[in-house]
Amino acid sequence: MRDEWEMTFVDSGAAALKFMEYNNVHVVISDMRMPGMNGAELLGTVMQFYPHTIRLVLSGHSDQDLILKCVGSTHQYLSKPCDPETLRKTIARALALESNLKSQRIQTLITRMECLPSVPKLYTEIMEKMNDPEVIIEDVGKIVARDIGMTTQMLKMVNSAYFGLRREISNPAEAVAYLGLDTIKSLILGIHTFSEFESPATRGFSMSALWNHSLGVAIFAKLLTQQLTRNFKMMDEAFVAGLLHDAGKAALAYNFPDQYREISQQTQGNTFALLSAETQAFSVNHADVGGYLLGLWGLPTPVVEAIGLHHHPSLSLNEEFTPLTAVHVANALTHAEATTTPVVDVDYLKHIHCADDIEIWQRDFNEHSAALKQQSL
Ligand SMILES: [Fe+2]
Ligand SMILES: [Fe+2]
Repeated sequence: MRDEWEMTFVDSGAAALKFMEYNNVHVVISDMRMPGMNGAELLGTVMQFYPHTIRLVLSGHSDQDLILKCVGSTHQYLSKPCDPETLRKTIARALALESNLKSQRIQTLITRMECLPSVPKLYTEIMEKMNDPEVIIEDVGKIVARDIGMTTQMLKMVNSAYFGLRREISNPAEAVAYLGLDTIKSLILGIHTFSEFESPATRGFSMSALWNHSLGVAIFAKLLTQQLTRNFKMMDEAFVAGLLHDAGKAALAYNFPDQYREISQQTQGNTFALLSAETQAFSVNHADVGGYLLGLWGLPTPVVEAIGLHHHPSLSLNEEFTPLTAVHVANALTHAEATTTPVVDVDYLKHIHCADDIEIWQRDFNEHSAALKQQSL
């Protein structure tokens, strides 16, 4: 990459800080165990003095205790051994996100945040397993079952009215068989993300209400995508983007509890008011924050776009139906049920030649939510 990037390699944390005194550095990649200053100390200092610098850490299994110390000062963990391609992509993605229009403002905010969730290990393990051509459902079920907390939460979700299954699912392998590997994988990602942001400090901000809303949006976004495209990949992207579309709210509520509680109470569920209050307080809104965070995780671009633009879909350069369309519409219709805002962006739908479909979608949505209510009685 030496034709594209300027790279400097140093042999200690102290040398890295010395270098940064005189040079503008976009990305720092640190090992965890180093002589003198360890990775947690180095990244903590970098965060304090160079908050705009993206901080990545390479860590091995034996580093668990040290990793805990740098929660908050690290943007992404890469586990060792890390192949060059993964490293290259992670850096490229971080730099691309950095050039995003609002990114300077988001980065300033992100660097003030203490908790940035990392990709759950379980998710990475399942992804790896799925690359194995001989994988069978039981294998994946076994991986999930090892995490008891996750299994309990996942089964609760799967057996909720949202999925409308006719029988009780009692173990992860069964859940995978009934709902498919992609859905389970996405649920794991969603459950993990929201549980990372759960804390006594976020009292007054209902995480479970947000999670229920997100699950509803995810399921309807997937249904819409299925009806329009029958494209499995896109259906999965719509589902995961729906689950995580408001993760930025959870991140803001966790990191700035008092400020965010005040904002949510003042705006009383009015999305337009919420978006402008967020922008006033943090210079960016929850969609920007969510898109940015999940972009750092390396979720597919359509997912990141759907999360980042779910309130402003016309900013997308795409001119056809995408997961963004599905999440925008599902979110607007779901919110419209509870309050008067937000509305579907009709100009955007015209632009992507879907304006005629909105009546059908509304009808489908009404049927879908009536069925849900019926089941939960
Ligand atoms: Fe939102
Ligand atoms: Fe929402």
